[in-house]
Amino acid sequence: MRMIAPSILSADFSRLGEEVRAVDKAGADLIHVDVMDGHFVPNLTIGPAVVKALRPHSKLLFDVHLMISEPESYIDDFAEAGADILTVHQESGVHLHRLIQMIKSHNIKAGVSINPATPALMLEDIISEVDLVLVMTVNPGFGGQAMIPAALNKIARIREFAGEREKPLLIEVDGGIKAETIAAAEAAGADIFVAGSAVFRSNDYEANIQALKKAGA
Ligand code: DX5
Ligand code: ZN
Repeated sequence: MRMIAPSILSADFSRLGEEVRAVDKAGADLIHVDVMDGHFVPNLTIGPAVVKALRPHSKLLFDVHLMISEPESYIDDFAEAGADILTVHQESGVHLHRLIQMIKSHNIKAGVSINPATPALMLEDIISEVDLVLVMTVNPGFGGQAMIPAALNKIARIREFAGEREKPLLIEVDGGIKAETIAAAEAAGADIFVAGSAVFRSNDYEANIQALKKAGA
């Protein structure tokens, strides 16, 4: 079963609480929150105060994707604000192992993300520590970009590194997921599909989520 994580980056920011409730009701499996700092990526979005304010609007897991430099300074804040999964970029810090332990100390799921130009190999020695790998299929920073399909090739490699484990590794793909691309991402081995523009492109969120769940399946 495909899990769909609508990215609220493409929602109407003037009524985010309502938008979170709407996608929850429409069949979303998780709520994906894109955090950008204007430094690690060329865009600025939201901080822990917004996550905290949105928390009462849904019981779904908040899947918080940190596209920020020096994520160690904000992990505690996002965990306390109500993140259920906190994902940091492999490229964003020097001490990735320490960052992952910091996330896990809050008893929430820890994820690591890689940009399109980062090889799967960079995850080999951290994979046993994480609950989730987020494979970027666009260069992070903006919604509505076209998928870079070659990035999907990494997923098989990542599964290999993960090997046999007690709790299965979750693999999430992010960027350019729509009805035309989701089946390829699933065939590549992903479990969770982030979709911003494909969910929020029109008012019928239920139809948009269903279209993603069914496309090419
Ligand atoms: C990109 C973000 C994505 C983005 C996805 O930097 O991490 O989550 O919002 O948007 P779409 O689905 O429109 O490509
Ligand atoms: Zn994202």
